[in-house]
Amino acid sequence: MAIPPIPGRFGTMSDTMSNAHDHIRAIRWQDNALVLLDQRLLPARTDYLYLQTVDEVARAIADMVVRGAPAIGIAAAYGVVLAARARYRRQPECWQTVLREDLARLAAARPTAVNLAWALRRMERLLAGLQGDPEERLLAEAKAIHEEDIAANHRMGELGAELLRKSPGSVLTHCNTGSLATGGYGTALGVIRSGFTAGLIDKVYADETRPWLQGARLTAWELVQDGIPVTLLADSAASYLLRQGEVRWVIVGADRIAANGDVANKIGTYHLAVSARHHGVRFMVVAPTSTIDMSLASGTAIPIEQRGPEELLTLAGKPIAAPGAAVWNPVFDVTPAELIDVLVTERGVILQPDVAKMRHLLENSR
Ligand code: MRU
Repeated sequence: MAIPPIPGRFGTMSDTMSNAHDHIRAIRWQDNALVLLDQRLLPARTDYLYLQTVDEVARAIADMVVRGAPAIGIAAAYGVVLAARARYRRQPECWQTVLREDLARLAAARPTAVNLAWALRRMERLLAGLQGDPEERLLAEAKAIHEEDIAANHRMGELGAELLRKSPGSVLTHCNTGSLATGGYGTALGVIRSGFTAGLIDKVYADETRPWLQGARLTAWELVQDGIPVTLLADSAASYLLRQGEVRWVIVGADRIAANGDVANKIGTYHLAVSARHHGVRFMVVAPTSTIDMSLASGTAIPIEQRGPEELLTLAGKPIAAPGAAVWNPVFDVTPAELIDVLVTERGVILQPDVAKMRHLLENSR
């Protein structure tokens, strides 16, 4: 994949920027291509990839050029546009049939984040009724998914910040759930943006998030760029931090939420939830309804991605572990609903989520 530089500050889209602490956009549609900020290279380099084929998009998702549940879904939606364009040009009489292979390749790129399947289903629903060149209609739908995600994040930011008002103070977050992980603004990091802007957050602590270092490399970079002071800690320091009594909320995102409210999120989230409960710190999950999977009764049914051993055996490309060691590298875990104090979605807030409350939210809101 070529990596040409693209002008503009981190892919700024000023029309969707809402406040002084919101300047980063990592996904753009530009010059008939999908442009992604390459998150593998942050914070050392801000390089962009121009993706013109569906294979490049599937590879970018699998290799974590783009990562974070909503961002993966948005990238996949644009991937469908690229796929349909190529298939229609080559085989206008049967492009829809051959396109199915592309959809399957995109769906298989990463298994845990349900936003990927959700976005593909939404694009697929449109396919059935299309006549003639499909590109314009599909592109409009992908852009709608992108814009709706940003709008949902702003709404969750407001709802979550409202909860912080009851007990302002310091917060701890895990992984990266910000503009880099979404269409823009972020889920958990969106609540932190809104809370910081409203003066409700004294200090933001971010776990480094081993092994891929989403916290150290991405969250810290994103917050520094946006003028929000951030304090990093090793994942293993989190319980000791919570014991100090300064942190009021642990705020995290989600990759998939089962019907009973169990939450799959970045590995390390579960032990944070256990520790938060032990120390009397409130635990908030922030995720759009596109992350909810009502087809799975509980978190035990959520597929958990295992990634390669090199993520643990090496650091920045250099070997760090004893040669010969085996590796167990699940990159997500499941936090049981009973450890979650509040789930914030764009359609509303659920205190102590359970299956009845989840159903009620989805059936009685829009
Ligand atoms: O492996 P990643 O970096 O894609 O994992 C991301 C997370 O676990 C995020 O917390 C989750 O996707 C929510 S992002 C708004």
